Amino acid sequence: MTNPSNVIPNDLHAFWMPFSANRQFKKQPRMFVGASDMHYTTSDGTQVLDATAGLWCVNAGHCRPKITEAIQKQAAELDYAPAFQIGHPKAFELANRLVDLAPKGMDNVFFTNSGSEGVETALKIALAYHRVKGEGARFRLIGRERGYHGVNFGGISVGGIVPNRKMFGTLLTGVDHLAHTHLPERNAFSRGEPEHGAELADELQRIVGLHDASTIAALIVEPVAGSTGVLIPPRGYLQKLRKICDQHGILLIFDEVITGYGRLGTPFAADYFGVMPDIMITAKGLTNGVIPMGAVFVKSEIYDAFMTGPEHLIEFMHGYTYSGNPMAAAAALGTLETYKEEGLLTRGADLAHYWQEALHSLKDAPHVIDVRNIGLVGAIELSPIAGEPTKRAFCAFIKAFDSGLLIRTTGDIIALSPPLIVEKHHIDQIVSSLAEILKTLE
Ligand SMILES: Cc1ncc(COP(=O)(O)O)c(C=O)c1O
Repeated sequence: MTNPSNVIPNDLHAFWMPFSANRQFKKQPRMFVGASDMHYTTSDGTQVLDATAGLWCVNAGHCRPKITEAIQKQAAELDYAPAFQIGHPKAFELANRLVDLAPKGMDNVFFTNSGSEGVETALKIALAYHRVKGEGARFRLIGRERGYHGVNFGGISVGGIVPNRKMFGTLLTGVDHLAHTHLPERNAFSRGEPEHGAELADELQRIVGLHDASTIAALIVEPVAGSTGVLIPPRGYLQKLRKICDQHGILLIFDEVITGYGRLGTPFAADYFGVMPDIMITAKGLTNGVIPMGAVFVKSEIYDAFMTGPEHLIEFMHGYTYSGNPMAAAAALGTLETYKEEGLLTRGADLAHYWQEALHSLKDAPHVIDVRNIGLVGAIELSPIAGEPTKRAFCAFIKAFDSGLLIRTTGDIIALSPPLIVEKHHIDQIVSSLAEILKTLE
């Protein structure tokens, strides 16, 4: 299937692929040429079961008719409208629909084109909010080890992935980090929220003690860290963070780029955990991955704080040429319609138990040192090959692809997040394929 003679459409040299092993790929390319529902099609016609919703984004499954039609219609009707000082109806309709779906109190939406831009937008809103409220001394941003908040400078500054940070100089100043919450020695093979580690939230109190609350603008965390291998918050941890933020006037930002739009069996992780952030970043599943778009939700107090001064003046000096782009807005409306018609934003709750038990059946498979799950997300952590971290999981990825299964790996962790239309027989296939692959790994 990965024989280059079948799949090379033209010279592969020019395209510098993102977050990819370019030389390995170009020697042994893996190309998709089509997709439908739960499957991709490769150039030689092989069906590949999608156990990752593309890149955590194709929550409704592939090439869904409502979304395709919405885009086609929009392209013929209104291709582009300037994003600044001019509107078009679908951007407003979408914002209203999103606010209706979001946790109560998240009343305003700022559109971006990606999760990374959503993160920058959220951090800037947080800093500017304190300033318009007369608390401009709050300039510090707190992130967390092993956090992923996209690839722009704000995001990698508050993020906690060393290889994503170390090449790029001084980054933002005034940033501090909480410890990550991954405690395999205490929590390995947890089902759902791990039992141990809520006390790690007290780190925020220590950081407040060090810097003084009056200098801290916001804390940003992923409710469930996805990109660093599905790190599920210990029971009570997020609730504690919320409490400490409240005590000190620190804004709590949830980066829900992965958890948003049904991944945990609720519309947002904020709903799942019953913890309301002040700002919530979403992207990916917003348009089913079809057209780039992000949406940053804020509480009405935050929006209202900016709405002062002469009315002809711009209140917030920020925005993108494609904020609320008509094609993206149409794709998002088609996506929300599909989610609603098929009950996809809560479907994960019905399947979560089956998913959990299926994944945990791999507990005793070779190399497995942890299995963890929440909603329709799961991770299988492998012991690394001595001296060659990431290689074992990467081999699993290649072998899975060659056997017709798309998984995602990060470090030595296999991360799974199928489209929310997944059926039990797909889950069985994912798990039985993985069981076979694990047996063959070095
Ligand atoms: C939690 C989180 N934040 C931000 C991003 C960045 O999103 P994008 O790749 O759309 O810029 C991602 C992407 O995986 C993510 O998982």
